[in-house]
Amino acid sequence: MQSETRALYERLKSRLGNIVPDFELEIKADLARRVNELKRERNAVILGHNYMEPALFHSIPDFTGDSLELCRKAAATDKDIIVFCGVRFMAETAKILNPGKTVLIPSPKAGCSLAESITAADVRALREKFPGVPVVTYVNTYADVKAESDICCTSGNAAKVVESLDSDRVIFLPDEYLAGNVAKETGKRIIFPSRKPRPASAPGENGVEYEMIGWHGRCEVHEQFTVEDIERIRRQLPDVVVLAHPECSPEVVAASDFSGSTSEMVRYVREVDAARYLLLTECSMGDNIAAENPNREMVRLCSIRCPHMNEITLEDTLASLEQTRYVVDLDEDLRLRALESVERMIAIG
Ligand code: 13P
Ligand code: SF4
Repeated sequence: MQSETRALYERLKSRLGNIVPDFELEIKADLARRVNELKRERNAVILGHNYMEPALFHSIPDFTGDSLELCRKAAATDKDIIVFCGVRFMAETAKILNPGKTVLIPSPKAGCSLAESITAADVRALREKFPGVPVVTYVNTYADVKAESDICCTSGNAAKVVESLDSDRVIFLPDEYLAGNVAKETGKRIIFPSRKPRPASAPGENGVEYEMIGWHGRCEVHEQFTVEDIERIRRQLPDVVVLAHPECSPEVVAASDFSGSTSEMVRYVREVDAARYLLLTECSMGDNIAAENPNREMVRLCSIRCPHMNEITLEDTLASLEQTRYVVDLDEDLRLRALESVERMIAIG
């Protein structure tokens, strides 16, 4: 084994030795070494979302984090190539923010059920229906949808973005659960004109001075968690602390102890002492946190992987750097319009 491969193998073994078999760690360590060599040769930076599979997450990214943190890293890099180990909307956001760089995504299949739930035409139709109402768009959308929006948000700053707008109505797209959670957090009422037109005498019409207009997009991973899951686990393990991503339903978030972006959950486990933790989110992240915090007990009940994040492998990342594939490009006019929404969000923090 080459010395760099050996060092990577030792690192993976110490973090993942109890979840990944040894022969697989050896193969992954060698692949990671080749990726890292090419990364240096090609002056590339690798950004890895918290949902990346454990061997990739712990070997090749220069930076790991949630959508907002990785957006910032993409904007600031001076490398020639950005390889985004995440899904397409994230790679597009990197291109929006840093257009002079070659942005690569290792698999063209890494989509997102939220991003696919809404089109630019849908946003234009909502604007016609609610003239003058500002449009807040979750970053889990494609660039053409961002281009039709006033401001973006992530799971880490959604409430702050909504509260920053000087308007008593906001169109919040496309995640109905995130919208519901933000509405609760900010004390707003939420309506869904796409399926249920608001009746003239809707409850709260009088006395509610603010409302959010939602859309029926959902994350195919987070919509699977239920309140019954939480109740069952609490009966079995009463001292468990439950952490839910805000893409879970408002009922699930209400039944949990903490809700936050993927990195906020990582920090919670690192910083808050508890007997054990249950994460209601994509389950590779539980493995990644367990690997970094061997003194923390993570409840291993998770079997839900995001099929899109799961498309990103060490093999494809290597091929992506070898063949300069798959390049993410955007029409310049569209990019500039999307940039306005992303920059407004970044200015808010
Ligand atoms: P974060 O911004 O919290 O990392 O979430 C991204 C995502 O896709 C969650 O499903
Ligand atoms: Fe999209 Fe859900 Fe996968 Fe995140 S976990 S990329 S929101 S499908």
